[in-house]
Amino acid sequence: KRVVYLTRHGQSEYNKLKKIGGNPGLTDLGTAYARWLGESFVRREGIDSTPSRLWTSSMRRTIETARYLPHPLLELSSGRSWHQMQHRVYRNLDELFAGDYEGMTYDQIMAENPDEGGLRKFDKLGYRYPRGESYLDLIARIDPLITELESYEEPLLVVSHQATLRVVYAYLTRTLRADAPKIDLPLHTVIKLEWDEGAASTPAETRYR
Ligand code: F6P
Repeated sequence: KRVVYLTRHGQSEYNKLKKIGGNPGLTDLGTAYARWLGESFVRREGIDSTPSRLWTSSMRRTIETARYLPHPLLELSSGRSWHQMQHRVYRNLDELFAGDYEGMTYDQIMAENPDEGGLRKFDKLGYRYPRGESYLDLIARIDPLITELESYEEPLLVVSHQATLRVVYAYLTRTLRADAPKIDLPLHTVIKLEWDEGAASTPAETRYR
């Protein structure tokens, strides 16, 4: 069985203000989620007692969300030791870069440039923010990580962002990429995807919150 857990970071200062992008820290609510994840969820799932992997983006809000996850050194029967959970920071997992519109709300963007919102609605997958990224750009930068992910045997927890996780989720569940930008991924929810090694079936999905 392969197991991948996907979660967005806890609520950030920008989520509260409905601003996009930036590199804000967590609110108190977001920190409470980080505690639940690190102190209760991984224990309940038993991934605090087996070698497992953790990926975060390079942004403050995902690193803060991973802060309470267990990290003792495990001695394996093979004589090797393994940091629990083995953590990698990937810039490829950073949130969709909104270019000139970083730090603005959707309402401010619409007020400043009404055409822009319309364009994005028309083609959310291909729409590229001025001096920023599109979902197609995200797919390209996340692609190498999928190969990496597929080579793992250990459970993997990915703490990332709304747009990037939509892309990862779409890959793993074989969702059409045109539908990826619309996938519902609420805050403070862990999605567990499980599938049999080598099976071409769609993974079983459970959501915890
Ligand atoms: O609002 C949070 C956020 O992560 C933004 O930083 C990002 O631009 C957005 O979600 C992506 O979602 P959508 O593509 O639906 O705007």
